[in-house]
Amino acid sequence: MFADRVLSGMRPTGNLHLGHYHGVLKNWVQMQHEFECLFFVADWHALTTHYDNPQIIEQSVWDMVVDWLAAGVDPAHATLFIQSKVPEHAELHLLLSMITPLGWLERMPTYKDQQAKLTEKDLSTYGFLGYPLLQSADILIYRATQVPVGEDQVPHIEFTREIARRFNHLYGRDPGFEEKAESAVKKLGSKKARLYQELRTRFQEQGDDEALESAKALLDEQHSLSLGDRERLFGYLEGGGKMILSEPQSMLTVASRMPGLDGQKMSKSYNNTISLREDEVSVAKKIRTMPTDPARVRRTDPGDPEKCPVWQLHQVYSSEQTRQSVVHGCKSAGIGCIECKQPVIDAVLDEQRPMRERAQMYLDNPSLVKNIIADGNEKARKLACETMREVREAMGLSYS
Ligand code: TRP
Ligand code: SF4
Repeated sequence: MFADRVLSGMRPTGNLHLGHYHGVLKNWVQMQHEFECLFFVADWHALTTHYDNPQIIEQSVWDMVVDWLAAGVDPAHATLFIQSKVPEHAELHLLLSMITPLGWLERMPTYKDQQAKLTEKDLSTYGFLGYPLLQSADILIYRATQVPVGEDQVPHIEFTREIARRFNHLYGRDPGFEEKAESAVKKLGSKKARLYQELRTRFQEQGDDEALESAKALLDEQHSLSLGDRERLFGYLEGGGKMILSEPQSMLTVASRMPGLDGQKMSKSYNNTISLREDEVSVAKKIRTMPTDPARVRRTDPGDPEKCPVWQLHQVYSSEQTRQSVVHGCKSAGIGCIECKQPVIDAVLDEQRPMRERAQMYLDNPSLVKNIIADGNEKARKLACETMREVREAMGLSYS
């Protein structure tokens, strides 16, 4: 119905590594050219699990933004902001909490899973239980249509749709809806208003789907309508009330499983990562000391790439030709492991070079980063305030 708007957030809880780059950031960089994109630092979300160690959040916020920029997220194409600088997220979270059944939150798979996994933390808090609802507020406040997330987050998006539906059901039919819709129709101008009414009647009386589509197309072209009127007219078309909060879709990021230095998935908790802009000497050293097929004790012992974590990195980084010579050289003991690792080292360094360069520009000039975020905060806040005005009005909170 509306043009797509993509929103995603990342929790600032430490250094970003190449797993984040391959799993998330590359995807953001691509999407910024295809959609309107909003990317934010989910600092309040980080507090739900790191409330006892806020220093790490404070440190990570700016590093993470530099990492995004280094990876190629471009403030000319995407809006970058910090959640806590748009306090309307908290207001929407509070208001939505009024209509959120506890059971919906308690049933969330991430709730039990994370509590079981992070045993060193006490996560039986109000804030942690409400985590998915805060995420819903993040999404709904921008009327995002697409939310790129990993598989574990899909239930949160489904939950967000349910919250939006419940909200619209409870508050979408304000008493003056018909009158407001009629006066919005007038704002289309007499010719288009007549066309809209005609199409609406054809759809409502004869179920003519083509008429519905034409009317929607007509509304899509009316750029001067306020967001409120626009949605009223969409709602009025189909006979329902006003759609105040729109239901987002999840955009499943294909789990490109980035292998770490030990062959397990790259993850901070496995201590097997290469940071996004780790210095060259350290990268080379980490790869050079990676474990290999344990059967290759001596240089003359043949090996099996399938049993070697280095081979997994070749699959991410190397050309078909290099991979073939690795397989052959390993199985025939024709190459040594150090020799085998060199192309991986080169490829990782090549990948990181432009990132390190871009990052350097921002590190030399921290005010650039601050300005990008200040800009983004302002843009985001404008959008958020528009939605909040309608939410307050719908919930009977627009006293003056
Ligand atoms: N919960 C997400 C995560 O753990 C981060 C997040 C917070 C988010 N709010 C969001 C992601 C809104 C997408 C949209 O990764
Ligand atoms: Fe691994 Fe390469 Fe050594 Fe074979 S030659 S064991 S693939 S590092």
